[in-house]
Amino acid sequence: LRVVVLISGRGSNLQSLLDAAAGGGLPVDIRAVISNRPGVQGLERARAAGVEAVTLDHRAYAGREDFDAALIAAIDRHEPGLVVLAGFMRILTPAFCAHYAGRLLNIHPSLLPKFRGVHTHERALAEGETEHGASIHFVTAELDGGPVFLQARVPVLPGDDAGTLAARVLEQEHRLYPLAIRWFAEGRVRQDGDRVRFDGALL
Ligand code: GRF
Repeated sequence: LRVVVLISGRGSNLQSLLDAAAGGGLPVDIRAVISNRPGVQGLERARAAGVEAVTLDHRAYAGREDFDAALIAAIDRHEPGLVVLAGFMRILTPAFCAHYAGRLLNIHPSLLPKFRGVHTHERALAEGETEHGASIHFVTAELDGGPVFLQARVPVLPGDDAGTLAARVLEQEHRLYPLAIRWFAEGRVRQDGDRVRFDGALL
């Protein structure tokens, strides 16, 4: 399965995918990593793994549609069977989401549908949540609204701040994403409209 990974920064989720692919546990060929921001650590991680590292600076484009069209062109050069958003901090246009419907995944640091959007750890703490976590979902035009098919839960502990909670969630993210992508590569999980099918069963 050919995969292109989109990032915007640190790339720790990317690293877990690179490691899993190199270790043989994840049957994918990561063809390229594309960042909308130049000079970020994730690009270095890609280069260190011998993966093509591309910067497509969104500031160089007039509007969202122009950027997304350029992004589609850069992605489709690799003819991926799956596009993975990993710390990608751009809202994608409906046209982009439609183009990759059924083969576009994202990881979000909350137990969706709770806490869509940003600053999820701060918001979970502010709400007094006793547990939090991460969700993997197919991406649709609705921000963080696509069908979820894998989640990890972590406890919120006394004395947690956003940093300690985020670290606990991130640890699970790094376990979750390689598993989710392996299932997709094995044909076990598929998007079916606004639902997900796992081994044929509708979730
Ligand atoms: C993580 O919290 C992830 O859930 C979110 O972006 C953050 C940064 O991830 N998608 P990474 O280290 O850049 O993979």
